[in-house]
Formats: sequence, structure tokens, C-alpha cells
Amino acid sequence: MNATTDFWDAKQYMHFGNERLRPALDLLAYVPEQEPQRVVDLGCGTGNIAALLKARWPAADVLGVDSSANMLEAAAAAVPECRFERADLARWQPEGLLDVIYSNATLQWLPDHPTLFPRLLSFLRGGSWLAVQMPAMHDAPLRKMQLELARSPSFAPYLRGVPQQPSILSAENYYDLLSSRTGKLDIWETTYLHTLRGADAVAEWAAGTSLRPYLDALPEDKRAPFRTAYAEAMRDAYPQRENGVTLLPFKRLFIVANV
Ligand SMILES: C[S@@+](CC[C@H](N)C(=O)[O-])C[C@H]1O[C@@H](n2cnc3c(N)ncnc32)[C@H](O)[C@@H]1O
Repeated sequence: MNATTDFWDAKQYMHFGNERLRPALDLLAYVPEQEPQRVVDLGCGTGNIAALLKARWPAADVLGVDSSANMLEAAAAAVPECRFERADLARWQPEGLLDVIYSNATLQWLPDHPTLFPRLLSFLRGGSWLAVQMPAMHDAPLRKMQLELARSPSFAPYLRGVPQQPSILSAENYYDLLSSRTGKLDIWETTYLHTLRGADAVAEWAAGTSLRPYLDALPEDKRAPFRTAYAEAMRDAYPQRENGVTLLPFKRLFIVANV
């Protein structure tokens, strides 16, 4: 396993489970009614969405694929009605054609989307569906400050080798990439205004996802200072309101296509 070594922490990721679930449900709602036999959840994490896929299509074989042993352990225990497989999606390929490929908040971790997306489409049976949701937050303080800190003199010596989460393409670029390869193609962006509670809520949010590779790469004694500096920057960028809520505007890109 390469860039996706196991820095995932199932418990920390699910800390904001409701906020993370909403876009997954919105994505699923846009996959048209049908009776698929083979459904795959790419980057299934803790399996909570694989369970929803199975609930929607009880007759289907639902397979969750993920590179994280930690996430898959949680998934296998919680969702025995689905199958789970450990693999790096950069190289994974299914045995036989699929009816639905679903992927929530995962493909942004993989590089080279101009190669990846056509490859995923090639796994689909004619008439079947690809449904993808990815955060589009690269210009937001949440992500920019991680990069800035990682390049600062205090942390750069430890973080040079950390794979940066590759930028996703623009909505228009995905249209150009996919329109000639698909039948129906629906691409849209939504900004969710997450209302987070608790101290340093945005830093806590990031600690479950985009901050993980940095924390994982730092030596033990540098992790707390990195997290403190990040939390401080997040308090300035996303101030907590008097009612205790911190607003986090979070933009996500959705793609639903059939072949
Ligand atoms: C943000 S979580 C999303 C989990 C789930 N889809 C959800 O919406 O709750 C991203 C997941 O992608 C997985 N992942 C990231 N890169 C991967 C890769 N190259 N191959 C397989 N899984 C990967 C991680 O292990 C993690 O479980």
C-alpha cells in the first residue's frame, strides 16, 4: 500500500458522522432507481454507507473496498451483510463488470483523475452508474493552512515526504473528461454550512481526515505543536459564535454518470 498507508482512525472520522453522512445520502439520492446486482463502495471507510447501499438494494452483492485496515475492521464488525476487501484503489480492479460504482469522499485522495475516471467507467456494464462525491476545499483556509504549516521551518523538515492530497479537477474539467464517455452526466457543487460544536471544532474535523497524513508523519513531540498551531489558525479563520457554534462552509463536487 502506498500513499494510503493506514493513518485513518475510524473513531475520530466518525466524530462528525452526521455532517459527513449528509452528502453521502444526497449523492445516493441521485442514483436512479434500478435493480443492480453488483454494487461497489470505493473507499468504504467504516462501512456505514455500504450498509445504506445494501438497504436500498437488498438483492445486490455490495462490496466495500478500502486500503485502511483500521476502517475495514470497523466495517466488517458493523456491517456483516456486506463484503469488504482491502486494496489500493489506484490498482484495484473488480472481477467482472459492475452495476453501480459509488464513492463518497475518497477519490480526492487518488492522483491522476484523467486516467482514474475512464478506468472506473471501464468497470461498468452498459447502462450502469458511477456516483462520486469529493470535497472541493483546496482554496479554503481549512486546507490552505495545513499546507502553509507543513512548509513552515518548524515542520518542513519532517513533512517534505508527505503526499499532498492532490487537487481535484474543476467541474468543467470533469465534464470535458467524461461527456464523450458517458450517456447521462450530471455534475454539481454544493456548499454545506456545517454547524460544528465543541472547542476547536474545525481542527477536530480536520484531524479525522485531511490533517491525518501530517500528524502521522511528524515525530511524537512535534504533533501537539502542529495541532496547536493549526487549531489557532482555524479559530481565526472560523471563529466560534456566542452560541457555541462554529460555522464551516464546506464545498463538495458531485458527479453522477451512466455508461
Ligand atoms: C474520508 S474517508 C470516506 C469514507 C466513506 N466513504 C464515507 O463517506 O464515510 C476516505 C476513505 O478512503 C480510503 N482511501 C483513501 N485512499 C485510498 C486508496 N488509494 N485506496 C483505497 N482506499 C483509500 C481511506 O482509507 C478512507 O477510509
